[in-house]
Amino acid sequence: MLLAILFIFSFLFSSSNALVGDFCVADLKGLQSPAGYSCKTAVTVDDFVFSGLAAAGNTSNLIKAAVTPAFVAQFPGVNGLGLSMARLDLAVDGVVPMHTHPAGSEILLVVQGSICAGFISSANVVYFKSLKRGDIMVFPQGLLHFQFNAGKSPAVAFVSFSSPSPGLQILDFALFANDLPSDIIVKTTFLDKAQVKKLKAVLGGTA
Ligand SMILES: *[C@@H]1O[C@H](CO)[C@@H](O)[C@H](O)[C@H]1NC(C)=O
Repeated sequence: MLLAILFIFSFLFSSSNALVGDFCVADLKGLQSPAGYSCKTAVTVDDFVFSGLAAAGNTSNLIKAAVTPAFVAQFPGVNGLGLSMARLDLAVDGVVPMHTHPAGSEILLVVQGSICAGFISSANVVYFKSLKRGDIMVFPQGLLHFQFNAGKSPAVAFVSFSSPSPGLQILDFALFANDLPSDIIVKTTFLDKAQVKKLKAVLGGTA
């Protein structure tokens, strides 16, 4: 009986908030495992606030698009909570090329302009639609999807993910922006070598 009471009190008065399970603000200096980061001990309100989504991202790039993440690496308060956010800026003609987030589903809210967005199911069925301000669309975890500006003015969206660290893999970058030998790309994609070389030149691939 006495032991049980001591045990309960030791839980109630344990010094670390993380032990009682309210939250586990990421200690970004530690290692990240599939379960997230370990918890840091000195927590302030600023660990639960992220102000980085107010400003537009820089869209002066090949894809004329910018994704500003508020994932656990930028926003340690989301560690262990199963969610995160990002801001998407699409200049005119901007595109987020076909990509996946291996670790999370995504929901996108258009707040400015018009965005054509879609995904492809694992049965290779295509679902896409032109979205306007106020529309939301959901992209199931792991599926290839894309977004592009469907209007004549810049577009902005905010996206949420069902993971603090959803990951981002862009298909064209995976194929053409690294040193995977061109012959292997030709063999595994059925593309012409000339097309592979062209895409490598555009995206910065070698070999
Ligand atoms: C945006 O990015 C481009 C290309 O990297 C760079 O030249 C430019 O200075 C950046 N603009 C701002 C406002 O940071």
